[in-house]
Amino acid sequence: MQVINSIEEMKQERKKLACTVGFVPTMGYLHRGHLTLVRRAKRDNDVAVVSIFVNPTQFGPGEDFATYPRDTERDLEMLEKEGVDFVFMPTPDDMYPDGYNTWVETFGITSKLEGEKRPGHFKGVTTIVNKLFNIVLPHKAYFGQKDAQQLRVIQKMVADLDMHVKIMPVATVRSRRGLAMSSRNNYLSKEEREAALVLYKALSTAEEMYMRGEQDVARIRVKITGIINQEPLAKIDYISIADADTLEELTYMDRSALISMAVRIGNTRLIDNRTIG
Ligand code: PAF
Repeated sequence: MQVINSIEEMKQERKKLACTVGFVPTMGYLHRGHLTLVRRAKRDNDVAVVSIFVNPTQFGPGEDFATYPRDTERDLEMLEKEGVDFVFMPTPDDMYPDGYNTWVETFGITSKLEGEKRPGHFKGVTTIVNKLFNIVLPHKAYFGQKDAQQLRVIQKMVADLDMHVKIMPVATVRSRRGLAMSSRNNYLSKEEREAALVLYKALSTAEEMYMRGEQDVARIRVKITGIINQEPLAKIDYISIADADTLEELTYMDRSALISMAVRIGNTRLIDNRTIG
């Protein structure tokens, strides 16, 4: 496994590769969810490249950029075991040198949900993902469905800008009891980890209601809001039941719906979602 810290070196190595390249962009502090993406990238391609870069431009003021968990040594050990070919770990100065002033922004679907709650977040994500794609030139890039809106924003960017890369969505990986894997789970105490199961419980209840024939969004929303509010450590940021493609809020479940939510458990903001119908 080759670890590369400079953009120039990554570009040079990429030029030598006359084969299919699978790419997994990450912010490190890897967990089973990331490893699932890595395994898919390895399975589908000749060469697997993973990037580790905690991207400052996708964090808003007062968010957790400074405290975002980092453990490069552990990450590299995990990637080595997976048989990854290249790990690209650029420095912030290389990615955003003095005078950097070019941004890639997708409008519309970024104005809702995470985009509404975290202004500027998706502009940071689309800009860095674009830069990473330009450096790594992957044939396929792998993204988890846990970040459902991010996945849609990137798919839209790739379609709108006629980019060559194929975006590969990968199902959310969960703990045995349903907690979606996230680097931010690391912030949770034992008690909070237990409380965080309420997101899974709420999403499962919504799906069960739908399976039993409930199509009234208001009734599903009341039920799952109640479930989350019963958990003393949980505070709802948003609950959305929206058209799975456009992310427009629904009143009636007459098409495929993305149920997504952001909930604070103590000081930790967790997101989760499920597509139904
Ligand atoms: O999902 C993430 O970890 C990040 O948003 C990404 C795609 C690596 C861009 O920094």
